[in-house]
Amino acid sequence: MKKDCAVILAAGEGARMKSAKPLVLAEVLFKPMIDWVIDGVRASGIEDICVVVGHLSDEMRKHLGDSVETVYQSELLGTGHAVMQAKDFITRHGSANVLILNGDAPFIDAETIKGALNFHVRTVNQATVISSKIDNPQGYGRIVRSSSGQLMRIVEEKDASENEKQINEVNSGAYWFNCQALLNALGRLSTFRELSAGSRKKEYQLTDAVEIILSQSLNATAFNSRVPDVVLGANDRIQLAKLNEIARASQLSRQMLEGVSIPCADGVIIGPDVDIGADTLILPGCVIKGKTVIGSNCVIGPNTWIEDSRIEDGAQLNNTQCFESRVGEGAQVGPFARIRPGTLIGKEVRLGNFVEIKNAVIGDETKISHLSYIGDADVGRDVNIGSGCATVNYNGREKSRTVISDGAFIGCDTSMIAPVSIGRDAYIAAGSTVTDDVPANALAIARAKQVNKKDWVSKKKPYKRQPLPEEGQ
Ligand code: UD1
Repeated sequence: MKKDCAVILAAGEGARMKSAKPLVLAEVLFKPMIDWVIDGVRASGIEDICVVVGHLSDEMRKHLGDSVETVYQSELLGTGHAVMQAKDFITRHGSANVLILNGDAPFIDAETIKGALNFHVRTVNQATVISSKIDNPQGYGRIVRSSSGQLMRIVEEKDASENEKQINEVNSGAYWFNCQALLNALGRLSTFRELSAGSRKKEYQLTDAVEIILSQSLNATAFNSRVPDVVLGANDRIQLAKLNEIARASQLSRQMLEGVSIPCADGVIIGPDVDIGADTLILPGCVIKGKTVIGSNCVIGPNTWIEDSRIEDGAQLNNTQCFESRVGEGAQVGPFARIRPGTLIGKEVRLGNFVEIKNAVIGDETKISHLSYIGDADVGRDVNIGSGCATVNYNGREKSRTVISDGAFIGCDTSMIAPVSIGRDAYIAAGSTVTDDVPANALAIARAKQVNKKDWVSKKKPYKRQPLPEEGQ
């Protein structure tokens, strides 16, 4: 048996977005609209996906990678014409069903897709239009039904009569078709277009394929989605901001229902692919995005940015930025810390104010409490790094690593010129510039010896501050 498949229409330009990017790459909660659609399709169990690209197709293909097939629409002649470009893909799926979707309507969800397919199969439909009832139907294709409720056609806003404009059941732009029935209807779209009047004459409209199927006395009905937001799309930045508002509120609700505390949602943005454990507290001003997982009992924020990272149970990140990294159980980070990609922070680690870590492993219970840069380094357990230390990892040409073994104590204001190793339990005197490896248990002092010149100041009187009158001589 052939597998059901999906075609996503994404060739449009979206000129009103005034962007150098393709329309469907505009982001809702930091995630391109097309990725929302693809993830929704995948979550419903459909694996074979073909995306119709056109405007800025190279950029689209680069974004999509090998995860989906693509076909190219050289001229934007309408949604029906876009589907025609995927004819070979649909033909390969023979007698199965094909889901057609708009790439700029991000809220299509797996439940609606599966519900509509069950309905489509149960009613032996050749076409099932996913519809929704909305308060303001302006701009959408209206679902025209007969007095007995049968689907008759879909009429676009520009072709609708005043009466039809009052209909608030709209076409979401998502449909299930039997592959064969759709291919037959697509074959007739040209003739249909020639016979049509008004705006329909200019484009090959996919909505007409539904009318063709109905005219062949084949079954086609509308499936009313329980989620009205499935129809929502964005063609300009105002609409995009509305989608962001809706998605933000819905993600915050999702997290709160999972046991996350968000006592004040001001400035809190949580992406759709973020998982947060119960009893974690999210404070104002936090942006948590990408594929981030946060454990339970954490305190995140205020004012913290986390991207594509894993934060283990009980960790606290205060006024911190963390990218593509992992923060261990019970770690305390910040305020004002920055964790850059490729970092693994161990359990119960303490990173204090103005500490930057990059591409480094920091062992359990290590403390880097103030004003330090640790990059390209392997730091062991229970290490203490004093204030103002730096791994000097870049010589202008290449990056080198610093190794600091378990239990080492690095005095304040130490520079470690990489590549260099500090042995287990070694002790570096404050103010050292370490250029050579330090053996385990050794004390390294790498600074100029102090010289005190007796009475130097009184002898150099011109440089000395003149005493104030009340100080006398
Ligand atoms: C379409 C429907 C309308 C429905 C609405 C829901 C038609 C004729 N109308 O209208 O009934 O209510 O969606 O949002 O189908 N695209 C291409 N190639 C093209 C034209 C469009 O790939 O030649 C893509 C666009 O990139 C977009 C999608 O198809 O992702 C929808 O196109 P758009 O022009 O926005 O259709 P609507 O006018 O919204």
